[in-house]
Amino acid sequence: MSLNLSAEQPAVPDDADDGVWLECIECGDTFAPFEDVRYTCDACDGLLEVRYADLPTFDDFEGEGVWRYADALPLAEGVTIQEGGTPLYEVPRLEESVGVEALRIKHEGMNPTGSFKDRGMTVGVAVAKELGVDRLACASTGNTSAALAAYGSRGGMETLVLLPSGKVAAGKVAQASLHGARILEVDGNFDACLDIVQELAEGGEAYLLNSLNPFRLEGQKTIGLEILEGFRADYGTVPDRIVLPVGNAGNTAALYKAFRELVQAGELAEDDVPKLTGVQAEGAAPMVEAIENGADEIRRWDDVETRATAIRIGNPVNAPKALPGIRETGGTAVAVSDEEITDAQRDLAGEGIGVEPASAASVAGLRKLRAEGIVDDDERVACLTTGHLLKDPDAAAAAGNDPEPVPADTAGVLEHLQEN
Ligand code: F0G
Repeated sequence: MSLNLSAEQPAVPDDADDGVWLECIECGDTFAPFEDVRYTCDACDGLLEVRYADLPTFDDFEGEGVWRYADALPLAEGVTIQEGGTPLYEVPRLEESVGVEALRIKHEGMNPTGSFKDRGMTVGVAVAKELGVDRLACASTGNTSAALAAYGSRGGMETLVLLPSGKVAAGKVAQASLHGARILEVDGNFDACLDIVQELAEGGEAYLLNSLNPFRLEGQKTIGLEILEGFRADYGTVPDRIVLPVGNAGNTAALYKAFRELVQAGELAEDDVPKLTGVQAEGAAPMVEAIENGADEIRRWDDVETRATAIRIGNPVNAPKALPGIRETGGTAVAVSDEEITDAQRDLAGEGIGVEPASAASVAGLRKLRAEGIVDDDERVACLTTGHLLKDPDAAAAAGNDPEPVPADTAGVLEHLQEN
């Protein structure tokens, strides 16, 4: 299997372009990266990964944001809105109440459109230009559509987004709308939207920019590279564990790929690779089920429900890349309730960090695993928060304080403050 941590650097095939090629994770077939549009393997329909003849070292990285890591990416530059370079916040009160040696929050909500999706789109939309396509499309629980709309318009391309009707948070629809995407509201859940958009893409209607697209995950690798650089700068060592919310498991796959490449390049010892720990909502937890059952494949959940609409997903398409990542790094997966998610959202807000519900799942999961003794008290942990509070203003208002009506004079306001 090519996805284990000790995999050798593969031989460079004839179809490589400037040392870059696509390889099927199932059968190993290789393809030229920028000649034809392709999302999965021609031979066996397996997922594809981008491969490189030369893997960079940390010394090769310079500059800011996602493109600091250009040597680890398939192109030298992207369609950019200055994504990446997000904060790695200290959270002393939360660190103490969870009970770990160190806790940092990598807040991806601080990207240009307010989620980690921007890191994938800066690469994916640039590849779309390289391929010469004119229309871009995605299915989305919201954030992917917001990012695609913004990066598509930045790149001067038409965008089409398919959203599950009534299940996308208001901020995300507003973004897709203003950035000029055509928004198709589908009477079905996210997985149904993805089935449709995949068929449209196969039929040549548009270029698919869901995380099934291997180029998008290259951009998302930079989350892992930034976390490692941040921990090395502050603690002199990499984190023991990275906890992240899981929907399609794209980030889980991307972080694992980043670590595999660092191991191959001799930049990270196999024993030091952070334990990838995925968190899902109880009402949408097929990855957790597969990890708990030791299964190689996930069972698609047809009925999914959670307040964390961003991860309301029953068929994580990147599971074949992500399951080995969780297992090989000694990580795990855990499901949390909507109440635990909201509590964690309040905990983060109490440290000044505003996140949408799906993002808070990482902290809720860490708290649960620590309470169960699966996470030790001497661990240094990074939690990923994937999207900004303003993405889902309704969830924030429901979790927070209610406004108090007062009269329009100071005496009335003072009276109200004294009485309540
Ligand atoms: N957190 C947020 C805020 C998300 O929007 C998503 C995915 C995830 C976590 C899960 O990430 O798929 O890499 O495991 N949102 C997609 C979308 C599905 O359409 O915006 P993953």
